[in-house]
Amino acid sequence: MRCVLVSTTLDMRAVFAPEIARLQGQIDFVDHPDFAAANDVQLALAWHPPADAFARYPNLKAVCSIAAGVDNILSCPSLRDNIDVVRVVEPAQAQMMSGFVIWHAIWHQRRFATYRAQQQNKIWQRLPQRTAQQVPVGILGHGAIGARVAADLAMLGFPVKVWSRSAKPPSPGITAFHGRDGLRAMLQDTEILVNLLPLTPETRGILNRDVFTAMRRGGYLIQVGRGEHLVEADLLAALDSGQLSGAALDVFLAEPLPKEHSFWSHPGIVLTPHDACDASLAAVGGTVLATAEALRAGMRPGNVVDRGTGY
Ligand SMILES: NC(=O)c1ccc[n+]([C@@H]2O[C@H](COP(=O)([O-])OP(=O)(O)OC[C@H]3O[C@@H](n4cnc5c(N)ncnc54)[C@H](OP(=O)(O)O)[C@@H]3O)[C@@H](O)[C@H]2O)c1
Repeated sequence: MRCVLVSTTLDMRAVFAPEIARLQGQIDFVDHPDFAAANDVQLALAWHPPADAFARYPNLKAVCSIAAGVDNILSCPSLRDNIDVVRVVEPAQAQMMSGFVIWHAIWHQRRFATYRAQQQNKIWQRLPQRTAQQVPVGILGHGAIGARVAADLAMLGFPVKVWSRSAKPPSPGITAFHGRDGLRAMLQDTEILVNLLPLTPETRGILNRDVFTAMRRGGYLIQVGRGEHLVEADLLAALDSGQLSGAALDVFLAEPLPKEHSFWSHPGIVLTPHDACDASLAAVGGTVLATAEALRAGMRPGNVVDRGTGY
């Protein structure tokens, strides 16, 4: 089966070289758009595709993302309705994300930002200790990644609340909320808010003033979803007023973050360059192979995104 590599931001052939070599003989990888026989392409591996990318392939049946998120593929104007979009679901990626979120949660709970500032000024001063049980965490999104993060934080003793679109059964140490009304209830007394939502029309701009105001004063934001979830001016206002005491940001409206952006030097912000957790090369290759096998067998691939909900 022929699979076209499509990206405006990555050298896909270089990044996925080990998997391209491993799948040789099963998948014929070609580079968009410089090859003949576009009619033979049934599969694409894509990340930030150009707007007209998929128009070139009349027999394209499925597009695999290189990640858990698919927003940059769904927003591609040339993506036809009859093309399945497949995302990567990998337990090891959820585990990586969990470690990332836990690090930031403990950074806030144990006041490491204050200790770091004290160290810079050679100040030896103990601060009142707080147990994890005293720091309620709210998680937006209880999917493949959010569920793992919630379970691990609960195991560490944090009171965990999760919010999703549909109702979830209760699990030990985790209180579940859903829907718009559930969001307000979940935010009440939440001190650390973790965003693990997909970017959809419903979730765009969800990290805004109303949400920050509903949290416990002095709260902390861990933003690992997508940059478009956050209203940046509202975050800065919440930090300036003390409603939030800090924020860990991994994703941004503009990536790379422009050098002149105020987030770089804000004392309350810890930032990373969209590096919380990648899907492994093997998981991406495995997703392409499983999708190709499903197409060959005339079946629907696994992990297909619902085009109605956008995730
Ligand atoms: N920073 C990074 O490096 C990085 C890495 C990986 C992923 N991510 C981000 O993490 C996101 C989540 O990944 P995932 O694999 O966990 O996704 P997922 O399995 O699709 O789960 C999405 C969760 O969000 C909930 N949700 C969606 N729309 C909602 C709405 N309008 N209101 C309330 N809840 C809503 C879903 O609710 P239901 O359960 O009711 O369907 C589900 O619980 C990705 O889309 C991506 O944006 C970031």
